[in-house]
Amino acid sequence: IVQDGNRVGSVKQQLSSLFEASLRATFPELNIEPMVAACTAKFGDYQCNNAMGIWSKLKGASAEFKNPKSVGQGIISNLPPSEMIESTSVAGPGFVNIGLSSTWMAQSIQNMLSNGIGTWAPLLPASRVLVDFSSPNIAKEMHVGHLRSTIIGDTLARMLEFSNAEVFRRNHVGDWGTQFGMLIQHLFETFPNWEDIGEQAIGDLQEFYKASKKRFDEDDLFKERAQEAVVRLQSGEDKYRDAWKRICEISRREFDLVYERLGVHLEVKGESFYNPYIPGVLEELSSKGLIEESEGARVIFIEGQQIPLIVVKRDGGYNYASTDLAALWYRLNVEKADWIIYVTDVGQSLHFTMFFSAAKRAGWLPDSNIKAFPKTSHVGFGLVLGSDGKRFRTRSSEVVRLVELLDEAKNRSKAELLKRLEESGKLAEWTDEELEKTAEAIGYGAVKYADLKNNRLTNYTFSFDQMLNDKGNTAVYLLYAHARICSIIRKSGKEIEDLKKTGRIVLGHADERILGLHLIRFAENVEEACTNLLPNVLCEYLYDLSDKFSRFYASCQVVGSAEETSRLLLCEATAVVMRKCFHLLGIQPVYKI
Ligand code: ARG
Repeated sequence: IVQDGNRVGSVKQQLSSLFEASLRATFPELNIEPMVAACTAKFGDYQCNNAMGIWSKLKGASAEFKNPKSVGQGIISNLPPSEMIESTSVAGPGFVNIGLSSTWMAQSIQNMLSNGIGTWAPLLPASRVLVDFSSPNIAKEMHVGHLRSTIIGDTLARMLEFSNAEVFRRNHVGDWGTQFGMLIQHLFETFPNWEDIGEQAIGDLQEFYKASKKRFDEDDLFKERAQEAVVRLQSGEDKYRDAWKRICEISRREFDLVYERLGVHLEVKGESFYNPYIPGVLEELSSKGLIEESEGARVIFIEGQQIPLIVVKRDGGYNYASTDLAALWYRLNVEKADWIIYVTDVGQSLHFTMFFSAAKRAGWLPDSNIKAFPKTSHVGFGLVLGSDGKRFRTRSSEVVRLVELLDEAKNRSKAELLKRLEESGKLAEWTDEELEKTAEAIGYGAVKYADLKNNRLTNYTFSFDQMLNDKGNTAVYLLYAHARICSIIRKSGKEIEDLKKTGRIVLGHADERILGLHLIRFAENVEEACTNLLPNVLCEYLYDLSDKFSRFYASCQVVGSAEETSRLLLCEATAVVMRKCFHLLGIQPVYKI
Protein backbone atom coordinates (compact mmCIF):
# COMPACT_ATOMS: atom_id res chain seq x y z
CA ILE A 1 0.00 0.00 0.00
CA VAL A 2 1.35 3.37 -1.01
CA GLN A 3 1.69 5.98 1.64
CA ASP A 4 0.57 9.39 0.57
CA GLY A 5 1.92 12.25 2.67
CA ASN A 6 0.64 11.76 6.17
CA ARG A 7 -2.20 9.53 5.02
CA VAL A 8 -1.60 5.95 5.93
CA GLY A 9 -4.90 4.46 4.78
CA SER A 10 -7.53 2.70 6.82
CA VAL A 11 -6.75 0.58 9.85
CA LYS A 12 -7.50 -2.44 7.73
CA GLN A 13 -5.05 -1.22 5.09
CA GLN A 14 -2.39 -0.60 7.74
CA LEU A 15 -2.85 -4.06 9.21
CA SER A 16 -2.78 -5.55 5.73
CA SER A 17 0.63 -3.96 5.18
CA LEU A 18 1.92 -5.53 8.39
CA PHE A 19 0.59 -8.95 7.39
CA GLU A 20 1.93 -8.54 3.89
CA ALA A 21 5.40 -8.03 5.34
CA SER A 22 5.02 -11.04 7.58
CA LEU A 23 3.74 -13.28 4.80
CA ARG A 24 6.62 -12.27 2.58
CA ALA A 25 9.11 -13.04 5.33
CA THR A 26 7.50 -16.32 6.39
CA PHE A 27 6.68 -17.73 2.98
CA PRO A 28 9.01 -15.99 0.53
CA GLU A 29 8.37 -18.58 -2.17
CA LEU A 30 4.58 -18.13 -2.09
CA ASN A 31 3.10 -14.95 -3.45
CA ILE A 32 0.30 -14.31 -1.02
CA GLU A 33 -2.11 -11.40 -0.68
CA PRO A 34 -3.04 -10.77 2.94
CA MET A 35 -6.69 -11.37 3.81
CA VAL A 36 -7.53 -9.12 6.72
CA ALA A 37 -11.03 -8.44 8.00
CA ALA A 38 -12.61 -6.66 10.92
CA CYS A 39 -14.26 -9.11 13.28
CA THR A 40 -16.24 -9.20 16.46
CA ALA A 41 -14.46 -12.22 17.86
CA LYS A 42 -13.88 -12.51 21.56
CA PHE A 43 -10.13 -12.49 21.11
CA GLY A 44 -9.69 -9.74 18.64
CA ASP A 45 -10.75 -6.76 16.62
CA TYR A 46 -9.31 -7.98 13.31
CA GLN A 47 -8.52 -11.33 11.84
CA CYS A 48 -6.04 -12.56 9.24
CA ASN A 49 -7.43 -15.55 7.40
CA ASN A 50 -4.50 -16.74 5.32
CA ALA A 51 -3.29 -19.71 7.36
CA MET A 52 -5.61 -22.38 5.96
CA GLY A 53 -4.97 -21.40 2.36
CA ILE A 54 -1.21 -21.45 2.93
CA TRP A 55 -1.45 -24.80 4.69
CA SER A 56 -3.14 -26.33 1.69
CA LYS A 57 -0.50 -24.84 -0.62
CA LEU A 58 2.32 -26.29 1.47
CA LYS A 59 0.71 -29.74 1.12
CA GLY A 60 2.49 -31.02 4.22
CA ALA A 61 5.88 -30.55 2.55
CA SER A 62 7.17 -28.24 5.26
CA ALA A 63 9.08 -29.53 8.28
CA GLU A 64 8.48 -26.31 10.14
CA PHE A 65 4.72 -26.06 9.69
CA LYS A 66 2.93 -29.18 10.83
CA ASN A 67 -0.64 -27.85 10.81
CA PRO A 68 -2.61 -24.70 9.96
CA LYS A 69 -2.27 -23.53 13.54
CA SER A 70 1.52 -23.53 13.28
CA VAL A 71 1.20 -21.55 10.04
CA GLY A 72 -0.80 -18.99 12.02
CA GLN A 73 1.87 -18.90 14.69
CA GLY A 74 4.53 -18.44 12.04
CA ILE A 75 2.66 -15.46 10.63
CA ILE A 76 2.41 -13.90 14.08
CA SER A 77 6.08 -14.36 14.87
CA ASN A 78 7.10 -12.47 11.74
CA LEU A 79 4.72 -9.53 12.17
CA PRO A 80 6.78 -6.33 12.24
CA PRO A 81 6.56 -4.65 15.64
CA SER A 82 3.78 -2.09 15.70
CA GLU A 83 2.23 0.03 18.36
CA MET A 84 -1.17 -0.66 16.82
CA ILE A 85 -1.19 -4.21 18.08
CA GLU A 86 -1.74 -5.14 21.69
CA SER A 87 -2.45 -8.84 21.49
CA THR A 88 -2.24 -11.70 19.05
CA SER A 89 -3.57 -15.22 19.18
CA VAL A 90 -4.37 -18.12 16.92
CA ALA A 91 -7.89 -19.46 17.15
CA GLY A 92 -9.40 -22.64 15.76
CA PRO A 93 -7.61 -23.98 12.70
CA GLY A 94 -5.36 -20.99 12.19
CA PHE A 95 -7.31 -17.74 12.42
CA VAL A 96 -4.89 -15.06 13.50
CA ASN A 97 -6.61 -12.63 15.83
CA ILE A 98 -5.37 -9.13 16.44
CA GLY A 99 -6.40 -7.06 19.42
CA LEU A 100 -5.76 -3.38 18.80
CA SER A 101 -4.08 -1.31 21.43
CA SER A 102 -6.58 0.99 23.13
CA THR A 103 -3.83 3.54 23.64
CA TRP A 104 -3.06 3.54 19.94
CA MET A 105 -6.76 3.84 19.08
CA ALA A 106 -7.15 6.81 21.42
CA GLN A 107 -4.07 8.42 19.89
CA SER A 108 -5.41 7.91 16.39
CA ILE A 109 -8.69 9.61 17.32
CA GLN A 110 -6.78 12.42 18.93
CA ASN A 111 -4.64 12.88 15.81
CA MET A 112 -7.74 13.00 13.69
CA LEU A 113 -9.17 15.73 15.91
CA SER A 114 -5.98 17.78 15.64
CA ASN A 115 -5.20 17.23 11.97
CA GLY A 116 -8.64 16.86 10.46
CA ILE A 117 -10.70 13.98 9.21
CA GLY A 118 -8.85 14.14 5.89
CA THR A 119 -6.11 12.13 7.59
CA TRP A 120 -8.65 9.30 7.83
CA ALA A 121 -9.29 9.14 4.11
CA PRO A 122 -8.73 5.70 2.61
CA LEU A 123 -6.15 5.17 -0.11
CA LEU A 124 -7.71 4.08 -3.38
CA PRO A 125 -5.92 2.59 -6.36
CA ALA A 126 -7.76 4.70 -8.97
CA SER A 127 -6.67 8.29 -9.43
CA ARG A 128 -8.88 9.72 -12.19
CA VAL A 129 -12.45 8.62 -11.86
CA LEU A 130 -15.32 9.62 -14.09
CA VAL A 131 -18.79 9.24 -12.62
CA ASP A 132 -21.51 9.36 -15.28
CA PHE A 133 -24.70 10.04 -13.36
CA SER A 134 -28.09 11.73 -13.37
CA SER A 135 -28.07 11.99 -17.19
CA PRO A 136 -31.72 12.80 -17.92
CA ASN A 137 -33.06 13.16 -21.43
CA ILE A 138 -33.71 16.63 -22.73
CA ALA A 139 -37.36 17.57 -23.14
CA LYS A 140 -38.50 14.31 -21.64
CA GLU A 141 -39.28 14.15 -17.96
CA MET A 142 -36.57 13.84 -15.39
CA HIS A 143 -38.14 11.03 -13.40
CA VAL A 144 -37.51 9.38 -10.05
CA GLY A 145 -35.04 7.03 -11.71
CA HIS A 146 -32.92 10.05 -12.58
CA LEU A 147 -33.36 11.23 -8.99
CA ARG A 148 -31.89 7.93 -7.77
CA SER A 149 -29.05 8.21 -10.24
CA THR A 150 -28.39 11.78 -9.09
CA ILE A 151 -28.38 10.90 -5.40
CA ILE A 152 -26.32 7.70 -5.72
CA GLY A 153 -23.87 9.20 -8.22
CA ASP A 154 -23.30 12.31 -6.13
CA THR A 155 -22.49 10.22 -3.05
CA LEU A 156 -20.05 8.05 -4.96
CA ALA A 157 -18.40 11.14 -6.39
CA ARG A 158 -18.14 12.66 -2.92
CA MET A 159 -16.58 9.54 -1.43
CA LEU A 160 -14.08 9.24 -4.26
CA GLU A 161 -13.20 12.93 -3.97
CA PHE A 162 -12.66 12.50 -0.24
CA SER A 163 -10.35 9.58 -1.03
CA ASN A 164 -8.26 11.99 -3.10
CA ALA A 165 -9.20 10.75 -6.54
CA GLU A 166 -9.67 13.35 -9.21
CA VAL A 167 -13.35 13.04 -10.04
CA PHE A 168 -15.19 14.05 -13.21
CA ARG A 169 -18.87 14.48 -12.38
CA ARG A 170 -20.42 13.89 -15.75
CA ASN A 171 -23.97 14.54 -16.83
CA HIS A 172 -24.46 12.50 -20.01
CA VAL A 173 -27.72 14.19 -20.94
CA GLY A 174 -29.72 12.72 -23.78
CA ASP A 175 -29.66 15.74 -26.10
CA TRP A 176 -29.34 14.09 -29.49
CA GLY A 177 -32.25 11.73 -29.98
CA THR A 178 -34.66 11.64 -32.89
CA GLN A 179 -37.22 13.28 -30.57
CA PHE A 180 -35.70 16.62 -31.54
CA GLY A 181 -37.10 16.36 -35.02
CA MET A 182 -40.68 16.44 -33.81
CA LEU A 183 -39.96 19.05 -31.14
CA ILE A 184 -38.37 21.43 -33.59
CA GLN A 185 -40.96 20.87 -36.29
CA HIS A 186 -43.76 21.40 -33.79
CA LEU A 187 -42.10 24.59 -32.61
CA PHE A 188 -41.73 25.93 -36.15
CA GLU A 189 -45.29 25.12 -37.12
CA THR A 190 -47.12 26.29 -34.02
CA PHE A 191 -44.94 29.31 -33.33
CA PRO A 192 -43.54 30.73 -36.57
CA ASN A 193 -42.34 33.69 -34.48
CA TRP A 194 -40.60 31.44 -31.92
CA GLU A 195 -37.35 33.34 -32.18
CA ASP A 196 -38.96 36.50 -30.85
CA ILE A 197 -41.13 35.04 -28.15
CA GLY A 198 -38.59 32.34 -27.24
CA GLU A 199 -39.35 30.63 -23.98
CA GLN A 200 -43.02 31.53 -23.98
CA ALA A 201 -43.51 29.50 -27.12
CA ILE A 202 -42.37 26.36 -25.43
CA GLY A 203 -43.82 27.08 -22.02
CA ASP A 204 -43.86 23.89 -20.03
CA LEU A 205 -41.43 21.61 -21.79
CA GLN A 206 -43.10 18.41 -20.69
CA GLU A 207 -46.45 19.59 -22.06
CA PHE A 208 -44.74 20.72 -25.19
CA TYR A 209 -43.15 17.30 -25.57
CA LYS A 210 -46.50 15.60 -25.10
CA ALA A 211 -48.21 17.79 -27.67
CA SER A 212 -45.59 17.20 -30.31
CA LYS A 213 -45.49 13.47 -29.57
CA LYS A 214 -49.25 13.32 -30.03
CA ARG A 215 -48.98 14.92 -33.45
CA PHE A 216 -46.07 12.68 -34.34
CA ASP A 217 -48.07 9.57 -33.50
CA GLU A 218 -51.30 10.70 -35.12
CA ASP A 219 -50.32 12.69 -38.18
CA ASP A 220 -48.25 10.85 -40.77
CA LEU A 221 -47.43 13.95 -42.74
CA PHE A 222 -46.18 15.66 -39.61
CA LYS A 223 -44.14 12.59 -38.86
CA GLU A 224 -42.46 12.85 -42.24
CA ARG A 225 -41.69 16.53 -41.73
CA ALA A 226 -40.30 15.72 -38.26
CA GLN A 227 -38.00 13.08 -39.71
CA GLU A 228 -36.85 15.56 -42.33
CA ALA A 229 -36.15 18.00 -39.49
CA VAL A 230 -33.83 15.48 -37.80
CA VAL A 231 -31.80 15.22 -40.98
CA ARG A 232 -31.58 18.99 -41.31
CA LEU A 233 -30.60 19.35 -37.66
CA GLN A 234 -27.93 16.70 -37.96
CA SER A 235 -26.52 18.21 -41.11
CA GLY A 236 -26.04 21.39 -39.07
CA GLU A 237 -28.53 23.81 -40.64
CA ASP A 238 -28.46 27.03 -38.58
CA LYS A 239 -32.15 27.48 -37.95
CA TYR A 240 -32.48 23.91 -36.74
CA ARG A 241 -29.38 24.16 -34.58
CA ASP A 242 -30.71 27.33 -32.95
CA ALA A 243 -34.04 25.76 -32.12
CA TRP A 244 -32.28 22.69 -30.74
CA LYS A 245 -30.05 24.84 -28.58
CA ARG A 246 -33.01 26.79 -27.27
CA ILE A 247 -34.85 23.64 -26.27
CA CYS A 248 -31.77 22.21 -24.59
CA GLU A 249 -31.28 25.40 -22.60
CA ILE A 250 -34.81 25.42 -21.27
CA SER A 251 -34.56 21.80 -20.34
CA ARG A 252 -31.26 22.26 -18.59
CA ARG A 253 -32.56 25.14 -16.56
CA GLU A 254 -35.29 22.87 -15.29
CA PHE A 255 -32.81 20.17 -14.36
CA ASP A 256 -30.77 22.78 -12.53
CA LEU A 257 -33.69 23.51 -10.21
CA VAL A 258 -33.43 19.93 -8.99
CA TYR A 259 -29.64 20.00 -8.71
CA GLU A 260 -29.79 23.27 -6.81
CA ARG A 261 -32.12 21.86 -4.18
CA LEU A 262 -30.03 18.73 -3.83
CA GLY A 263 -26.75 20.63 -3.76
CA VAL A 264 -25.41 18.46 -6.56
CA HIS A 265 -22.80 19.69 -8.94
CA LEU A 266 -22.46 18.16 -12.42
CA GLU A 267 -20.64 18.94 -15.62
CA VAL A 268 -22.70 18.48 -18.77
CA LYS A 269 -21.28 16.73 -21.79
CA GLY A 270 -24.35 15.49 -23.55
CA GLU A 271 -24.70 12.81 -26.19
CA SER A 272 -24.38 15.46 -28.92
CA PHE A 273 -20.85 16.19 -27.76
CA TYR A 274 -19.66 12.75 -28.84
CA ASN A 275 -21.41 12.75 -32.18
CA PRO A 276 -18.41 14.00 -34.16
CA TYR A 277 -16.24 11.24 -32.66
CA ILE A 278 -18.51 8.36 -33.67
CA PRO A 279 -17.30 7.83 -37.27
CA GLY A 280 -13.64 7.67 -36.24
CA VAL A 281 -14.33 5.32 -33.37
CA LEU A 282 -16.41 3.00 -35.56
CA GLU A 283 -13.64 3.13 -38.13
CA GLU A 284 -11.17 1.94 -35.50
CA LEU A 285 -13.47 -0.87 -34.36
CA SER A 286 -14.05 -1.83 -37.95
CA SER A 287 -10.34 -2.01 -38.73
CA LYS A 288 -9.96 -4.30 -35.72
CA GLY A 289 -12.54 -6.57 -37.32
CA LEU A 290 -15.19 -6.09 -34.66
CA ILE A 291 -17.96 -4.70 -36.81
CA GLU A 292 -20.08 -6.94 -39.00
CA GLU A 293 -23.07 -6.49 -41.26
CA SER A 294 -26.32 -7.99 -39.98
CA GLU A 295 -29.77 -7.49 -41.49
CA GLY A 296 -28.74 -4.16 -42.94
CA ALA A 297 -27.38 -2.85 -39.66
CA ARG A 298 -23.76 -2.72 -38.50
CA VAL A 299 -23.25 -4.68 -35.33
CA ILE A 300 -20.72 -6.08 -32.90
CA PHE A 301 -21.19 -9.68 -31.80
CA ILE A 302 -20.49 -10.34 -28.15
CA GLU A 303 -19.52 -13.75 -26.84
CA GLY A 304 -22.32 -15.34 -24.86
CA GLN A 305 -24.98 -12.93 -26.16
CA GLN A 306 -27.53 -13.98 -28.75
CA ILE A 307 -28.34 -10.51 -29.99
CA PRO A 308 -25.47 -8.34 -31.17
CA LEU A 309 -24.81 -4.76 -30.16
CA ILE A 310 -26.13 -2.51 -32.93
CA VAL A 311 -23.80 0.41 -33.61
CA VAL A 312 -25.24 1.73 -36.88
CA LYS A 313 -28.95 1.36 -37.47
CA ARG A 314 -30.42 0.18 -40.74
CA ASP A 315 -31.21 3.77 -41.74
CA GLY A 316 -27.55 4.66 -41.24
CA GLY A 317 -28.18 6.56 -37.99
CA TYR A 318 -26.22 6.19 -34.79
CA ASN A 319 -27.76 5.12 -31.50
CA TYR A 320 -27.27 4.94 -27.74
CA ALA A 321 -24.54 2.30 -28.11
CA SER A 322 -22.54 4.14 -30.78
CA THR A 323 -22.63 7.26 -28.62
CA ASP A 324 -21.54 5.32 -25.55
CA LEU A 325 -18.64 3.75 -27.43
CA ALA A 326 -17.47 7.16 -28.62
CA ALA A 327 -17.90 8.58 -25.11
CA LEU A 328 -15.86 5.74 -23.61
CA TRP A 329 -13.14 6.26 -26.19
CA TYR A 330 -13.07 9.97 -25.31
CA ARG A 331 -13.01 9.33 -21.58
CA LEU A 332 -10.15 6.87 -21.85
CA ASN A 333 -8.02 8.66 -24.41
CA VAL A 334 -8.70 12.36 -23.99
CA GLU A 335 -9.75 12.61 -20.36
CA LYS A 336 -7.49 9.74 -19.35
CA ALA A 337 -9.88 8.40 -16.76
CA ASP A 338 -8.79 5.14 -15.17
CA TRP A 339 -12.15 4.24 -13.67
CA ILE A 340 -15.44 5.04 -15.41
CA ILE A 341 -18.61 4.53 -13.43
CA TYR A 342 -22.11 4.58 -14.93
CA VAL A 343 -25.09 5.07 -12.63
CA THR A 344 -28.41 3.98 -14.17
CA ASP A 345 -31.31 1.68 -13.35
CA VAL A 346 -30.60 -2.06 -13.54
CA GLY A 347 -32.83 -2.22 -16.62
CA GLN A 348 -29.83 -1.01 -18.62
CA SER A 349 -27.46 -3.74 -17.37
CA LEU A 350 -27.42 -5.60 -20.65
CA HIS A 351 -26.49 -2.49 -22.59
CA PHE A 352 -23.51 -1.92 -20.30
CA THR A 353 -22.42 -5.55 -20.22
CA MET A 354 -22.45 -5.58 -23.99
CA PHE A 355 -20.64 -2.39 -24.69
CA PHE A 356 -18.04 -3.07 -21.97
CA SER A 357 -17.40 -6.41 -23.69
CA ALA A 358 -17.04 -4.66 -27.02
CA ALA A 359 -14.48 -2.31 -25.44
CA LYS A 360 -12.55 -5.30 -24.10
CA ARG A 361 -12.59 -6.94 -27.51
CA ALA A 362 -11.22 -3.71 -28.96
CA GLY A 363 -8.39 -3.82 -26.43
CA TRP A 364 -9.49 -0.53 -24.83
CA LEU A 365 -9.93 -2.22 -21.48
CA PRO A 366 -7.48 -4.79 -20.15
CA ASP A 367 -8.33 -8.32 -19.16
CA SER A 368 -9.08 -7.81 -15.46
CA ASN A 369 -7.04 -10.87 -14.52
CA ILE A 370 -3.93 -9.21 -15.83
CA LYS A 371 -4.46 -5.55 -15.03
CA ALA A 372 -7.13 -3.90 -12.92
CA PHE A 373 -7.14 -0.47 -14.60
CA PRO A 374 -8.52 1.22 -16.58
CA LYS A 375 -11.86 -0.25 -15.76
CA THR A 376 -15.57 0.43 -16.16
CA SER A 377 -18.36 -0.30 -13.70
CA HIS A 378 -22.10 -0.19 -14.05
CA VAL A 379 -23.80 0.91 -10.85
CA GLY A 380 -27.34 -0.36 -11.30
CA PHE A 381 -30.24 0.42 -9.03
CA GLY A 382 -33.80 -0.81 -8.52
CA LEU A 383 -37.13 0.92 -8.98
CA VAL A 384 -38.77 3.49 -6.76
CA LEU A 385 -42.14 2.15 -5.65
CA GLY A 386 -45.18 3.90 -4.26
CA SER A 387 -46.98 2.71 -1.13
CA ASP A 388 -49.16 0.52 -3.38
CA GLY A 389 -46.07 -1.47 -4.36
CA LYS A 390 -46.25 -0.24 -7.94
CA ARG A 391 -43.96 2.14 -9.77
CA PHE A 392 -43.98 5.46 -7.95
CA ARG A 393 -46.44 8.00 -9.38
CA THR A 394 -48.42 10.90 -8.05
CA ARG A 395 -52.15 10.66 -7.50
CA SER A 396 -53.06 11.80 -10.97
CA SER A 397 -50.84 8.95 -12.24
CA GLU A 398 -48.85 11.58 -14.06
CA VAL A 399 -45.10 11.37 -13.78
CA VAL A 400 -43.69 12.78 -10.59
CA ARG A 401 -42.28 16.23 -10.96
CA LEU A 402 -39.07 16.16 -9.01
CA VAL A 403 -39.04 19.79 -7.98
CA GLU A 404 -42.50 19.40 -6.48
CA LEU A 405 -41.47 16.20 -4.76
CA LEU A 406 -38.49 17.86 -3.12
CA ASP A 407 -40.51 20.89 -2.15
CA GLU A 408 -43.03 18.65 -0.48
CA ALA A 409 -40.29 16.95 1.52
CA LYS A 410 -39.11 20.32 2.70
CA ASN A 411 -42.56 21.65 3.52
CA ARG A 412 -43.44 18.56 5.48
CA SER A 413 -40.21 18.69 7.44
CA LYS A 414 -40.79 22.36 8.16
CA ALA A 415 -44.25 21.68 9.53
CA GLU A 416 -42.85 18.92 11.76
CA LEU A 417 -40.05 21.14 12.95
CA LEU A 418 -42.43 23.98 13.83
CA LYS A 419 -44.65 21.61 15.75
CA ARG A 420 -41.69 20.27 17.65
CA LEU A 421 -40.35 23.68 18.52
CA GLU A 422 -43.74 24.95 19.62
CA GLU A 423 -44.13 21.95 21.90
CA SER A 424 -40.74 22.44 23.47
CA GLY A 425 -41.25 26.20 23.75
CA LYS A 426 -38.08 26.87 21.76
CA LEU A 427 -39.59 28.45 18.68
CA ALA A 428 -38.62 31.96 19.82
CA GLU A 429 -34.94 31.00 19.76
CA TRP A 430 -35.03 30.33 16.02
CA THR A 431 -34.64 32.82 13.19
CA ASP A 432 -36.63 32.35 9.99
CA GLU A 433 -33.44 31.61 8.15
CA GLU A 434 -32.47 28.88 10.61
CA LEU A 435 -35.90 27.33 10.26
CA GLU A 436 -35.65 27.37 6.50
CA LYS A 437 -32.13 25.93 6.41
CA THR A 438 -32.97 23.19 8.90
CA ALA A 439 -36.17 22.26 7.08
CA GLU A 440 -34.18 21.96 3.86
CA ALA A 441 -31.41 19.92 5.48
CA ILE A 442 -33.93 17.52 6.98
CA GLY A 443 -36.30 17.35 4.02
CA TYR A 444 -33.76 16.84 1.27
CA GLY A 445 -31.56 14.77 3.60
CA ALA A 446 -34.51 12.47 4.29
CA VAL A 447 -35.12 11.86 0.59
CA LYS A 448 -31.44 11.10 0.01
CA TYR A 449 -30.94 8.89 3.03
CA ALA A 450 -34.10 6.85 2.37
CA ASP A 451 -32.68 6.07 -1.04
CA LEU A 452 -29.10 5.44 0.00
CA LYS A 453 -29.63 3.29 3.07
CA ASN A 454 -30.93 0.36 1.01
CA ASN A 455 -28.75 -1.83 -1.09
CA ARG A 456 -29.10 0.06 -4.38
CA LEU A 457 -30.06 -3.05 -6.34
CA THR A 458 -33.31 -3.46 -4.40
CA ASN A 459 -36.47 -1.55 -5.22
CA TYR A 460 -37.37 0.91 -2.54
CA THR A 461 -40.68 2.27 -1.39
CA PHE A 462 -41.00 6.02 -1.34
CA SER A 463 -42.85 7.17 1.74
CA PHE A 464 -42.71 10.65 3.23
CA ASP A 465 -44.07 9.36 6.52
CA GLN A 466 -41.34 6.80 6.85
CA MET A 467 -38.44 8.94 5.74
CA LEU A 468 -39.50 11.88 7.93
CA ASN A 469 -39.96 9.77 11.03
CA ASP A 470 -37.66 10.87 13.83
CA LYS A 471 -37.26 7.31 15.07
CA GLY A 472 -35.54 4.41 13.38
CA ASN A 473 -32.95 4.46 10.66
CA THR A 474 -33.77 7.82 9.07
CA ALA A 475 -31.91 11.02 8.29
CA VAL A 476 -34.09 12.87 10.78
CA TYR A 477 -33.10 10.55 13.60
CA LEU A 478 -29.42 10.79 12.70
CA LEU A 479 -29.43 14.56 12.21
CA TYR A 480 -31.06 15.00 15.61
CA ALA A 481 -28.57 12.58 17.18
CA HIS A 482 -25.76 14.74 15.84
CA ALA A 483 -27.41 17.94 17.06
CA ARG A 484 -27.76 16.39 20.52
CA ILE A 485 -24.04 15.62 20.67
CA CYS A 486 -23.28 19.21 19.68
CA SER A 487 -25.54 20.39 22.45
CA ILE A 488 -23.80 18.18 25.05
CA ILE A 489 -20.53 19.83 24.11
CA ARG A 490 -22.03 23.33 24.10
CA LYS A 491 -23.70 22.88 27.45
CA SER A 492 -20.51 21.63 29.09
CA GLY A 493 -19.28 25.21 28.83
CA LYS A 494 -15.84 23.93 27.78
CA GLU A 495 -13.89 25.23 24.80
CA ILE A 496 -13.44 22.17 22.63
CA GLU A 497 -10.50 23.73 20.77
CA ASP A 498 -8.65 24.10 24.08
CA LEU A 499 -9.47 20.55 25.10
CA LYS A 500 -8.12 19.28 21.80
CA LYS A 501 -4.77 20.90 22.58
CA THR A 502 -4.46 20.00 26.23
CA GLY A 503 -6.74 17.02 26.85
CA ARG A 504 -6.08 13.36 26.29
CA ILE A 505 -8.47 10.62 25.23
CA VAL A 506 -8.50 7.44 27.31
CA LEU A 507 -10.67 4.53 26.23
CA GLY A 508 -11.19 3.10 29.71
CA HIS A 509 -14.77 1.88 29.86
CA ALA A 510 -15.83 -1.03 27.63
CA ASP A 511 -18.40 1.15 25.85
CA GLU A 512 -15.80 3.84 25.26
CA ARG A 513 -13.59 1.28 23.60
CA ILE A 514 -16.46 0.00 21.43
CA LEU A 515 -17.21 3.55 20.31
CA GLY A 516 -13.51 4.27 19.73
CA LEU A 517 -13.08 1.12 17.66
CA HIS A 518 -16.05 2.06 15.52
CA LEU A 519 -14.67 5.57 15.01
CA ILE A 520 -11.32 4.35 13.73
CA ARG A 521 -13.10 2.02 11.31
CA PHE A 522 -14.49 5.02 9.44
CA ALA A 523 -11.87 4.90 6.67
CA GLU A 524 -12.33 1.24 5.84
CA ASN A 525 -16.08 1.71 5.57
CA VAL A 526 -15.62 4.54 3.10
CA GLU A 527 -13.11 2.34 1.30
CA GLU A 528 -15.56 -0.54 1.09
CA ALA A 529 -18.38 1.74 -0.05
CA CYS A 530 -16.11 3.08 -2.83
CA THR A 531 -14.62 -0.22 -3.89
CA ASN A 532 -17.95 -2.01 -4.09
CA LEU A 533 -19.84 1.13 -5.11
CA LEU A 534 -22.34 0.61 -2.29
CA PRO A 535 -23.38 3.78 -0.46
CA ASN A 536 -25.51 1.75 1.98
CA VAL A 537 -22.27 0.57 3.61
CA LEU A 538 -21.65 4.12 4.78
CA CYS A 539 -25.27 4.52 5.94
CA GLU A 540 -24.97 1.38 8.04
CA TYR A 541 -21.72 2.64 9.48
CA LEU A 542 -23.35 5.95 10.40
CA TYR A 543 -26.39 4.34 11.97
CA ASP A 544 -24.14 2.01 13.98
CA LEU A 545 -22.10 4.96 15.09
CA SER A 546 -25.10 6.72 16.55
CA ASP A 547 -26.07 3.46 18.25
CA LYS A 548 -22.63 2.98 19.78
CA PHE A 549 -22.63 6.58 20.88
CA SER A 550 -25.99 6.13 22.64
CA ARG A 551 -24.63 3.15 24.54
CA PHE A 552 -21.55 5.03 25.56
CA TYR A 553 -23.64 8.00 26.64
CA ALA A 554 -26.00 5.78 28.63
CA SER A 555 -23.20 4.07 30.54
CA CYS A 556 -20.60 6.82 30.86
CA GLN A 557 -21.34 10.12 32.52
CA VAL A 558 -19.75 12.90 30.51
CA VAL A 559 -20.22 16.34 32.05
CA GLY A 560 -19.10 16.55 35.66
CA SER A 561 -17.29 13.19 35.66
CA ALA A 562 -13.61 12.63 36.40
CA GLU A 563 -13.18 11.64 32.75
CA GLU A 564 -14.99 14.72 31.44
CA THR A 565 -12.24 15.98 29.16
CA SER A 566 -11.59 12.65 27.50
CA ARG A 567 -15.29 11.99 27.09
CA LEU A 568 -16.02 15.42 25.65
CA LEU A 569 -13.28 14.76 23.09
CA LEU A 570 -14.92 11.46 22.29
CA CYS A 571 -18.23 13.31 21.79
CA GLU A 572 -16.47 15.74 19.48
CA ALA A 573 -14.82 12.95 17.50
CA THR A 574 -18.19 11.27 17.07
CA ALA A 575 -19.72 14.54 15.87
CA VAL A 576 -16.86 15.11 13.43
CA VAL A 577 -17.18 11.63 11.95
CA MET A 578 -20.97 11.89 11.75
CA ARG A 579 -20.66 15.21 9.93
CA LYS A 580 -18.23 13.69 7.47
CA CYS A 581 -20.66 10.84 6.84
CA PHE A 582 -23.45 13.36 6.25
CA HIS A 583 -21.22 15.30 3.94
CA LEU A 584 -20.32 12.18 1.95
CA LEU A 585 -23.99 11.28 1.69
CA GLY A 586 -24.77 14.79 0.44
CA ILE A 587 -26.71 15.69 3.61
CA GLN A 588 -26.35 19.03 5.41
CA PRO A 589 -25.75 18.56 9.14
CA VAL A 590 -28.00 20.17 11.75
CA TYR A 591 -26.44 21.68 14.85
CA LYS A 592 -29.41 22.49 17.01
CA ILE A 593 -32.89 21.13 17.54
N1 ARG B 1 -30.00 9.23 -20.67
C1 ARG B 1 -30.04 7.88 -20.18
C2 ARG B 1 -31.39 7.60 -19.54
O1 ARG B 1 -32.12 8.49 -19.22
C3 ARG B 1 -28.95 7.58 -19.17
C4 ARG B 1 -27.55 7.74 -19.67
C5 ARG B 1 -26.53 7.02 -18.83
N2 ARG B 1 -25.20 7.21 -19.30
C6 ARG B 1 -24.64 6.61 -20.36
N3 ARG B 1 -23.41 6.91 -20.69
N4 ARG B 1 -25.30 5.73 -21.07
O2 ARG B 1 -31.73 6.45 -19.35
